[in-house]
This record gives sequence, C-alpha cells and structure tokens, in this order.
Amino acid sequence: MKFEKLNSLPPKLVSQGSRKASARWQILAFVCIWILVFLRQNSKANKTATYTIGEQQLKGIEIFLKPETSTRHNFGVLFERVLHDAQKKKGNFLEIGGGSGSFFDHNMATFGHMIQNYVIIEPYSLISETKERLPAFAEKVYKWRNNSSSPTSVTVHDEFSTNLELIKSFPDEYFDFVYIDGDHSYKGAKSDLINYFRKVRSGGVIAGHDYCCNRKEYESTIHAPWCGKYIYPVSTSKREKHGKDKVAFCGIFLGAEEFAKENNFYWLYTLEGRGEGNAAGDNNPSYFTIKL
Ligand SMILES: C[S@@+](CC[C@H](N)C(=O)[O-])C[C@H]1O[C@@H](n2cnc3c(N)ncnc32)[C@H](O)[C@@H]1O
Repeated sequence: MKFEKLNSLPPKLVSQGSRKASARWQILAFVCIWILVFLRQNSKANKTATYTIGEQQLKGIEIFLKPETSTRHNFGVLFERVLHDAQKKKGNFLEIGGGSGSFFDHNMATFGHMIQNYVIIEPYSLISETKERLPAFAEKVYKWRNNSSSPTSVTVHDEFSTNLELIKSFPDEYFDFVYIDGDHSYKGAKSDLINYFRKVRSGGVIAGHDYCCNRKEYESTIHAPWCGKYIYPVSTSKREKHGKDKVAFCGIFLGAEEFAKENNFYWLYTLEGRGEGNAAGDNNPSYFTIKL
C-alpha cells in the first residue's frame, strides 16, 4: 500500500492496521528472545563434559558411581571434565606400564582428539630376550603414530618408571592425567605414586589399575575390593582358569591407601561390573582422584 493511500484511510482503519503491526512486532520479539535463550542454553550444554551411553547423557564423575557405567573405559569422561574445568581443549596423558597397548588403543580411539601428548613408560624391551618391544604393543604404537587423522603426539620411553633421569625430564604439573599400571608390587605402586603425583597438575587426575585384593585379604581388609574370579573369556583367555580366584594385587591397594592417607585424600574406584549380584566384577577396579 502506497504512503499517500495510507494517509487517506479513515482513522479507525489506520489504528487497526497499526495494532496488527504492533502484534506482529510482539510476536517477532518473542521469537527472537526464545531463539536467544535456546542458543544460550545450548552453548552452556556444549561446554559441559557429556558422554552418551545408550539413551543416557552423563556428565563428570557421577557415572563412576553406577555399576553399569563405572569402568576405566569411561575415563575419557573424566579427562574431558578436568579439561573443561581448566578451560583447556587438550591435555597430556601418561600411562605407566603399556603392556600390550590395549588401554592405550582404547583411549586413543575414544578420546585421542583431546590428547596433545600421550606418553607411555614401558620397559619390556629392556628385559625381553629379543631386546624389542612386545609386538602387540609396537603394533598399536605404530598404528597411532601413523594415523594421519590423529593429532596426538605419541611418545614411548623404553624405561622403568623409577629411572630418576626420566622422572626429572617431566616438568612438575605437566600431565592432566596419570595412569599407573606398571610395577604391581606394594613398593612399586607406592613409589610411582610418590614420583608421579607431583607431575599431575592441580585439578588433573591421578589413577591406577588393579586396586583390589584376593578373597581372603578382601574378607579381612577393610574397604578392599575383591579382585574376583576369572571368567572365560572376559578376564582370561584360558578356559581352565574359569571360576578360579584371580591373581590379586593387594600391595597396590595398600600402597595406594597409605599414599592417600599421607596426603589427606580418599580414592574413588571403578566398579567394573561389581554390584547387582556380581561381587567379582568383569575387570579389576582402577583407583582415581582429582588432585586438589
Ligand atoms: C598389566 S601391564 C599394563 C597393561 C596396560 N596398562 C593396559 O591396561 O593395557 C603392566 C606393564 O607394566 C610394565 N612394567 C613393569 N614394571 C614397570 C615399571 N617399573 N615401570 C613401567 N612399566 C613397568 C610391564 O612390562 C607390563 O608391560
């Protein structure tokens, strides 16, 4: 409608038209506000560490309290959480004791995109007859180093974690996550905690595997989880071991407990299927805490 024509319309019609226009503006303003609120909430949600298991969206450490999600295979959630809290996009991960590389492989596949440097200390080549790395381990290291879509730098130290030069080579507070799974004796576990706790930044995670005792120790040791039985093929590749008590590592449990007591904190630990009628679990628990 032309401007002159609008001016010549009767006053009633003009005011009806302007009421319609103002209603349109109100609707538009409402839609804009709604879009802004939606975008704000969405950006908040995106900044929070989440992990989807089935239909559930889980955040932070509460997933380690549920038997069905409390497993070290979900440590990516913890990693994401502590990076988020420090407003970091990537962090450094140390694994002491690489073994066959299965945990490394899993971590790289699930949260490698958040890892700047993945460092592994594994002395196998120093003690093996061939003086070479375990083939299964070497294969996984090769695979991730040569994965062009992986931005993670992978470093392997063919050394014992107790090597003083090696310990000194890591700046204090360098790692966002340290996972101890090397020497399984009381002395070894405790010395790794003493030497590497300071290498974790405040707000980062220190953790370790095999935080459990055998049946007898479990019954007489307060709060010790039971390592459990072998279940073929979940926790042993040998059918004849099925149902027998697993080799346990109560020294790790005791060393970790002592260390926590000396440093005034408590460990949390993963349940790995324990609870809900399964006292033995499918894997040994991992202890962990966020360093204050
Ligand atoms: C149980 S395996 C590790 C498994 C691996 N973390 C995983 O979950 O896939 C233990 C490894 O620790 C290594 N180890 C033993 N003593 C060690 C030490 N002092 N420092 C570092 N690694 C050690 C052994 O050679 C062995 O490969």
